[in-house]
Amino acid sequence: MIYLDYNATTPVLGEVVSAMMPFFTEKFYNPSASYPEAGAVAQAVAEARQLVGDLLGVSPDQVVWTSGGTESNNWAIQGSLAYWHGKRDRILVSQMEHPSVTQTVKSLISEGIDVKFIPVDSRGIVRIDALDALLDERTALVSVMLANNEIGTIQPVADVAQRAHKVGALVHTDASQAVGKIVVNMPLLDVDLLSVAGHKLYAPKGIGALIIKAGLDFPQGLQGGGQEGGRRSGTENVPGIVGLGKAASLTQEWFADKGHGKQRTLRNELEHYLTQAIPQCRIFGQQVPRLPNTVGLAVDGWLGLDLLFLCPELRAGTGSACHSDTNEGAPTLRAMGVEASVARGLIRLSLGRQTTSAEVRTAAQLLARAVQGQPKSL
Ligand SMILES: Cc1ncc(COP(=O)(O)O)c(C=O)c1O
Repeated sequence: MIYLDYNATTPVLGEVVSAMMPFFTEKFYNPSASYPEAGAVAQAVAEARQLVGDLLGVSPDQVVWTSGGTESNNWAIQGSLAYWHGKRDRILVSQMEHPSVTQTVKSLISEGIDVKFIPVDSRGIVRIDALDALLDERTALVSVMLANNEIGTIQPVADVAQRAHKVGALVHTDASQAVGKIVVNMPLLDVDLLSVAGHKLYAPKGIGALIIKAGLDFPQGLQGGGQEGGRRSGTENVPGIVGLGKAASLTQEWFADKGHGKQRTLRNELEHYLTQAIPQCRIFGQQVPRLPNTVGLAVDGWLGLDLLFLCPELRAGTGSACHSDTNEGAPTLRAMGVEASVARGLIRLSLGRQTTSAEVRTAAQLLARAVQGQPKSL
């Protein structure tokens, strides 16, 4: 089996599992309790907060734990409206956001919120000219993802933030797919809110964070016992938090070792094999900055699911894992103006830190064999 679906989720690294294990058993204490054993657990949570802060270039008190990307995105959007107390009622999001953003904003339309979708150009980049035309003093929030989940294109978030801030709007970026794959520095992006999903960077599922700009008095996410400085109540998912902290420090080591550069080379190798063996294959987003691990491709005349069905050894995505059963085609491609028949062909191959050269070569061979009905030597 060849796993090339790391954008859907990543395996938890062995070192991450080892770091987490004691917090299920001998260090199971509630970090809010007053006895010394609990204090040691609270200390572990604080250390993880520091590690995640270091990865993103922010201070630890800006890191608020959540259950993952979906919760962070929901909170960023709903909290932004609450922040303005009805004084601003417009939300702008790009047309290529994850459903955890698009579904949340769509649900607000019936409450009288003016939701506008910022168009995307044919390369897979949000259109800055269209953003400018939509921005006004009524804008409560602008939300544009940092890296697209389906084809990996990296969005000009710093530019978006600069323009949105001119009209006083809050700015959120869903960095779920970016963190762990490219260096993400929140102060350089100058966003107010940034979402992290642990299971995309070799930490477990069910842990993530919302990073909140220092000094922003952002409304609380969940009400209750006042954990997270009152910003998000609920007894902390300590093993998950410790795991995310460890995953953040391993990510720093991976960057220091030029892991992302090596991954890009491997990805380019895969694209070379693919285009050599399947001339009618189209790769999206190649003209613009992209994640180093993602290939979004379609083969003329092929449905993504049909082609993958003929490659039973290959584990890949047909767009976001959350809506692989719909008929509309990959939403990102549709937003780019790609016709539905082609957008239904999207296959997403996403590499991980464990991916080998032999795997990418075989993956290309498997796809080529399926398309041509016979083995093709690369
Ligand atoms: C861009 C993006 N945002 C948000 C999410 C949701 O994150 P989670 O699964 O942690 O809720 C995903 C997961 O596929 C994603 O790709």
